[in-house]
Amino acid sequence: MLEGKDVLTLQNFSTDELWFLLQKCKQLKRREGRSLRQLLRGKTLAMIFEIPSTRTRISFEAAMKQLGGDVITLEWKNLQLSRGESLEDTAKILELYVDIVVARVTKHEYLQRLANSAEIPIINGMSERFHPCQALSDIFSIWEKKGEIQGLKLTWVGDGNNVCSSLILGCSRLGIDMIVACPKGYEPEETVLQWGKNNAKESGSKIELVRDPKIAARDADIIYTDTFISTGMEKEKREREKIFLPRYQVTQHILELGKKDVIFMHCLPAHRGEEVTHEVLDGPSSIVWDQAENRLHTQKTLLSEILG
Ligand code: CP
Ligand code: NVA
Repeated sequence: MLEGKDVLTLQNFSTDELWFLLQKCKQLKRREGRSLRQLLRGKTLAMIFEIPSTRTRISFEAAMKQLGGDVITLEWKNLQLSRGESLEDTAKILELYVDIVVARVTKHEYLQRLANSAEIPIINGMSERFHPCQALSDIFSIWEKKGEIQGLKLTWVGDGNNVCSSLILGCSRLGIDMIVACPKGYEPEETVLQWGKNNAKESGSKIELVRDPKIAARDADIIYTDTFISTGMEKEKREREKIFLPRYQVTQHILELGKKDVIFMHCLPAHRGEEVTHEVLDGPSSIVWDQAENRLHTQKTLLSEILG
């Protein structure tokens, strides 16, 4: 169903394709042993990192190895890309040697250029606009914890950038209501909101934007936050802290505005005492470690389905 597909944003996946991945992931998570190690034998994944990563890098590498494949991990700064070789030429070289590429970049446009120039599938390992693998894993984690998807309410508190955007696209396709509480100027992109609203019409869910996290958190099934200072925004640290704190910190008080069985989610890395308190991150409602574990299972699913 997904053979050869690029994973640049979740908007390129239909509701059926997303459900297909979730079901496959559920099966794969339970599977182990020799047959698993045969799945991608003889296949090679190349990963390119322009910016740092812990979870994405390790989970993709472990996933590929557990499926019997090989991995080449490359730092952008050590490739001729850093000396001006074009992305288009790099894409042509990559497809001569490997079967699939994961890239983490500072500009989403770089991924589009790689995808346009290479015949092999390109997976977005995070750009400034989207983080589709994270959102897929998050939706899988929600399904696992709640046993359902349709009709749940996910409250996003904080910066409406890459992770938030990918969640908007995935949730709206699958029927999860999403309410985003963010300061003025830190909203998700207009295009993403529009795509999300159109998807939501079809799935019978809704996407809303508010300023007040307390209003957003009311009756939430899931409360999710991410850093206020995303990769590349370090220079804005002071200014952002003034804008986001203390109002947009997920505290125990905010969490308790959600439903009794509310879960707390964070893509990690977390900054305790900034976007979330210790109490919430390490508390009983937090599923952040399960989320991180599921990155491994969803990457395995993506790799095995895309490589056929
Ligand atoms: N959540 C996530 O993508 O983590 P890394 O930046 O460590 O890969
Ligand atoms: N929004 C964060 C996500 C990290 C996984 C960033 O872009 O750094």
